[in-house]
Amino acid sequence: MLLFRQQEKIFILLSRPLLLICSVCFTILLIFYALRAPDSINFTAKNVGYVPSNSSSSLHPPAKEDEKCNLFKGRWIWDEKGPLYTNFSCKTIPDKKNCFLHERMDKDFVHWRWKPDECELPVFDPRSFLSIARGKTMAFIGDSVSRNQMESLLCLLSTEETPKDVYKDAKDRFRTWHFPHYNFTMMSLWSRFLVTSSQTIVNGSVTGGFDVHLDKVDDNWAPKLPVVDYAIFSDAQWFLRQNYLYEGGNLIGCIYCQEPNVTDLGPGLAIQRAFRTAFKYINDCKNCFGILTLLRTISPSQFENGTWKTGGSCVRTSPLAPEEIQDAGGADMEYRNIQMAEIESARKRGEKIGNRFDVLDVTGAMLMRPDGHPGLHWRNKKKGYSDCVHWCLPGPIDVWNEFLLEVLRRQSHFPLRSR
Ligand SMILES: *[C@@H]1O[C@H](CO)[C@@H](O)[C@H](O)[C@H]1NC(C)=O
Ligand SMILES: *[C@@H]1O[C@H](CO)[C@@H](O)[C@H](O)[C@H]1NC(C)=O
Ligand SMILES: *[C@@H]1O[C@H](CO)[C@@H](O)[C@H](O)[C@H]1NC(C)=O
Ligand SMILES: *[C@@H]1O[C@H](CO)[C@@H](O)[C@H](O)[C@H]1NC(C)=O
Ligand SMILES: *[C@@H]1O[C@H](CO)[C@@H](O)[C@H](O)[C@H]1NC(C)=O
Ligand SMILES: *[C@@H]1O[C@H](CO)[C@@H](O)[C@H](O)[C@H]1NC(C)=O
Repeated sequence: MLLFRQQEKIFILLSRPLLLICSVCFTILLIFYALRAPDSINFTAKNVGYVPSNSSSSLHPPAKEDEKCNLFKGRWIWDEKGPLYTNFSCKTIPDKKNCFLHERMDKDFVHWRWKPDECELPVFDPRSFLSIARGKTMAFIGDSVSRNQMESLLCLLSTEETPKDVYKDAKDRFRTWHFPHYNFTMMSLWSRFLVTSSQTIVNGSVTGGFDVHLDKVDDNWAPKLPVVDYAIFSDAQWFLRQNYLYEGGNLIGCIYCQEPNVTDLGPGLAIQRAFRTAFKYINDCKNCFGILTLLRTISPSQFENGTWKTGGSCVRTSPLAPEEIQDAGGADMEYRNIQMAEIESARKRGEKIGNRFDVLDVTGAMLMRPDGHPGLHWRNKKKGYSDCVHWCLPGPIDVWNEFLLEVLRRQSHFPLRSR
């Protein structure tokens, strides 16, 4: 017994420094992972498919229980309360998205809330948003659907502070707003493809398609990056037309061109290369500082019974259930998966140098909202074309900014590296 006690004592004496060393090591490891692996959402390539899995990697810092929840897997549920702003309270709704102004009669579509399967998505709180974003600059980089998200955010934030209109270019493609009290700057930077493009000209006239240089980053946004803290990238619709694709200045193929001597590589490859080029630029950027880059995944266009120019329309007045999504999302899901894979590889590279990458994975949620587009209600009655690409304001697109706030909140546990 005594012997046993002594052995125990010796063991304790020996083990104390060992314990100390171990716990020091463990703490260092924890700090290391907290600094190096700050992504809050798991979006590994194997999770692609419209129902991303909710498994969380053991490398991630301990997240609060509700922060492990996959925000993007869920369904739309009826919400009596309705939208957070109206076409009266928000003075900046662009005419083309002010659907009620253009005689949209059904109002149910503003009464659905997104409900993630495993948690609640907090209602947008402008004060929380502006507190997190205080002193920061946010850029929405992409096409008119990207702009659509900024317009929604502008309406959501205006209830807290009226922003100053700081800059607008002649074509109104670049726009900057500033919230003086919070010193928050928000801008939209127009870019069709994220990479350089010019209109394809055949026999001296434009074709509607583009020559796209997949390895050359678009100057519309790249030079602005050093002043940006949050960069939200999107794009997809312009890829889905007859374009010619270049790398190293050489034609490598096309999208939908049906020419015997040019390979049709399809939109997927072009989307992949363009996002790869954009994210590579961020990780290679020498005078950029700890940017949080967000991918907003493809927003589906939802024409039924035709295309936009053959009388296609979007006349539904209620959302779909997840099971009702046609063809499990089809090509939209395919492009979304390609985008997700690109940001995941950028994240792996970028986190080593203090850059962060995360997602607003809106594709699944929006595939359920064919009722959320302007349709014919966009001051274009004469031509009779429907807009089934953009989204009414207020409308389901507002959830993108609820996702955005929640992602910023989760990421804010890991402050951006200061300039
Ligand atoms: C997600 O989590 C729920 C409950 O925690 C579990 O039942 C489900 O199997 C998980 N799904 C996946 C794909 O891991
Ligand atoms: C708001 O929508 C209503 C229809 O719901 C319309 O009559 C009104 O003109 C709109 N107001 C503004 C300022 O757009
Ligand atoms: C506002 O934020 C910018 C960075 O976006 C910073 O350079 C500037 O000093 C800030 N101004 C004030 C008054 O804090
Ligand atoms: C361009 O012009 C040539 C000669 O006039 C004609 O043969 C060809 O079909 C035209 N190509 C297109 C795409 O219109
Ligand atoms: C493909 O063929 C057309 C018609 O023969 C020609 O005008 C065009 O220059 C060719 N394109 C390439 C890349 O060779
Ligand atoms: C498509 O056309 C069918 C047959 O004309 C019609 O019943 C249906 O309502 C249309 N759907 C939409 C979304 O326009």
